[in-house]
Amino acid sequence: MKEKKIVINDKLSKKYVADVTVFCISQKKKDTPLLPEDLRKSDFAHAAELGDFKAGENDVMVSYVSGTSKKIQSKRVAYVGIGTISKDIGKDELLEKMRIAGGNIASLAKKATAEKICVVLPEISGKALQKKSVRGLTEGIILGEYTFIKYKTDKEVQKKSKAIKEIRFLAKHNLSSLRLEAVRAHIDALSACQARDMANEPGNGWNAESFARYGQELAAKYDLQCTVFDKKELTKMNMGGILAVNRGSDTPPQMVVVEYRASKKAPTVLLVGKGLTFDSGGISIKPAAGMEDMKYDMCGGAAVLAAMNVVGAEKPNCNVIAIVPATDNMSGGSAVKPGDIIQHYNKTTSEVINTDAEGRLILADALAYGIERYQPDFVVDLATLTGAVIMGLGHHHTGLLANDDELAQKLIEAGKGCGEPLWRLPLGKEYRKQLDSKVADIKNTGGKSAGAITAAEYLHSFVGDTPWAHLDIAGTAWDFTEKSYIPEGGPSGMCVRTLAAFLRRL
Ligand code: BES
Ligand code: MN
Ligand code: ZN
Repeated sequence: MKEKKIVINDKLSKKYVADVTVFCISQKKKDTPLLPEDLRKSDFAHAAELGDFKAGENDVMVSYVSGTSKKIQSKRVAYVGIGTISKDIGKDELLEKMRIAGGNIASLAKKATAEKICVVLPEISGKALQKKSVRGLTEGIILGEYTFIKYKTDKEVQKKSKAIKEIRFLAKHNLSSLRLEAVRAHIDALSACQARDMANEPGNGWNAESFARYGQELAAKYDLQCTVFDKKELTKMNMGGILAVNRGSDTPPQMVVVEYRASKKAPTVLLVGKGLTFDSGGISIKPAAGMEDMKYDMCGGAAVLAAMNVVGAEKPNCNVIAIVPATDNMSGGSAVKPGDIIQHYNKTTSEVINTDAEGRLILADALAYGIERYQPDFVVDLATLTGAVIMGLGHHHTGLLANDDELAQKLIEAGKGCGEPLWRLPLGKEYRKQLDSKVADIKNTGGKSAGAITAAEYLHSFVGDTPWAHLDIAGTAWDFTEKSYIPEGGPSGMCVRTLAAFLRRL
């Protein structure tokens, strides 16, 4: 998705012809001071009288009477409801309402193949809340507009999906600070869309090397440092987890490291993302039904690199290192077998009980390496790690497991502000015991019960006391609870914006 031009104005102009001009209307006021008198008295009043437009969330009305307005020129006029906005509405609640409105605006823009849209902000008092409303709308429009049609050869499909080129907001006050907020939100949302693009690529369109290439592109674009470790180097480094998972594959593994340096004094955050480009389960092979979804098993890796896109653009005041161990999990003749014992970067040995519990094996190496090499103040890993987290939380919350309450709390708050809810699950030595192996230091599965927790406990044993949080996005990286700004069934770009918000506030 390309960058969009963002403009903020305080007046409607007859010279400017938008493909669609949208008025955001709240239920209580049923009005916005920027709605021209002639429009208010004509179709808007009429629809309200008939009860056809109630200004509730998800209420949308399109009209074609703009030629009759003396104030604006627009091919279409649309009214988008935002429900009730109470005086003491919380920032997070307002943000989510506006994101949803933004998603609705995107879908009507799509229908109209609009390139230029003008959005008239609702009247909301308070500078902070006005900023949030611009942020929410910008995110919602960009996230909601997203499609993945790269592999559609039908020319009609291509033609119909004209991207929005310009978003023009109309507000009464604080134009420059609103503009800055919109530009930032625009980067966050575009980055989440980049994570979706990576995820939407099938197993034969996105492999370990693709991650390396993306990391190098980021480094070149923002003057970051990118280091790629190939199979030979991983072997020298004793990255036994990554190598074991890769053994059944013809495609070599990569470990991609992208570094952003703010200053020596600033805190250092290590992000680690599972970059499993296709998970067949390996010798412990998965059932055929739904296996195609395992192309999404790289969403953690996609999220941390997409977050680096925000970091590169915004340059926050903390050092950030992103590591993506990348490989697929296949069942070729040399594949790792149940019962095999492998050795990780930090010398720990793992007994591989189930080759389908592969994510933790590659993360173990990356976590141990990253912590030793960078001595971070905080570690956050993201992974589509377990089916068990879907049993527990469904598709509505990302699982959060952490050895540090403060870090956990910060992530929960960041997630709340982004419409990406996290729910914390416990850790505990009782769970760690389920991973005791008779022959090695640890085994890679802990039996039927508490699968999301035992998976996290496995990772826990590779991070020690470093403040660490693990986000299990298996239930939310795709099939996330349907919202206007998230494509149904497809990848959500989960946690890219949450990571960005977390880093920004650090
Ligand atoms: N990538 C899967 C987890 C997954 C399953 C994500 C379904 C999204 C949807 C992971 O590698 C896996 O296979 N985990 C196993 C672990 C088990 C063998 C202990 C699982 O959850 O079944
Ligand atoms: Mn697996
Ligand atoms: Zn997996």
